[in-house]
Amino acid sequence: MSKKITIAIDGFSSTGKSTLAKQLANKLGYVYVDTGAMYRAVTLYAMQKEYISADFFNKEALIKALPKIKLQFIFNSDLGFGEMFLNDSNVEKQIRKIEVSGFVSKVAEISEVRSKLVEQQQEMGKNKGIVMDGRDIGTVVFPEAELKIFMNATASTRAQRRYDELQAKGDQVTYEAVLKNVEERDYIDTHRADSPLIVAEDATEIDNSNLSRDEQFDLVIALVNEVTKTL
Ligand code: DC
Repeated sequence: MSKKITIAIDGFSSTGKSTLAKQLANKLGYVYVDTGAMYRAVTLYAMQKEYISADFFNKEALIKALPKIKLQFIFNSDLGFGEMFLNDSNVEKQIRKIEVSGFVSKVAEISEVRSKLVEQQQEMGKNKGIVMDGRDIGTVVFPEAELKIFMNATASTRAQRRYDELQAKGDQVTYEAVLKNVEERDYIDTHRADSPLIVAEDATEIDNSNLSRDEQFDLVIALVNEVTKTL
């Protein structure tokens, strides 16, 4: 059995990072961590406490409440991955809603939020054998990761994918609203002062606008094999 490595998957929203990360974790017997779910759960908490709304954001109150926010991934064997629990409640479905997507980039800009979550993420990955996806995994969380992938696709391709997913779940959204959300998050994610989304120098970039899931998976597994054979 080859040595376990750390795989960091970063990229724009709705580029299929989590699909690829889950496929890899399954194939390799690694742990999968969706760091976006952690930022989403903190956002849900802020919404529940009414710290954030369309025209208002009490950042100080959220920062003060951070020690009260308990985040856990609890493995669901039917789904094959860990579901997000916020203060002991399963919030996996709620955090995927477009209302949460609308606020999450604003919450993810806060340095105190980022440092709390980065610390937890580093702890989860300390024994390697992990596939983690997000925006700053190869640059901030695991700059020493043996394999770094940066995923991209056109905004319209990504919006269509996210729209199809939300429709399938019965969410009443328009394609235009989803595209607007994707473009707004791209802007905030790449322009924030703390840990903006950038391509790590040693990352392999994949534009999957015209790649099937299987083609993409084969490409990345070849990269994993290349890295592990040198260890
Ligand atoms: O991957 P996602 O769309 O579920 O992520 C939700 C938001 O969280 C995204 O707009 C940016 C933020 N995020 C982040 O800033 N850093 C991460 N490591 C993961 C997500």
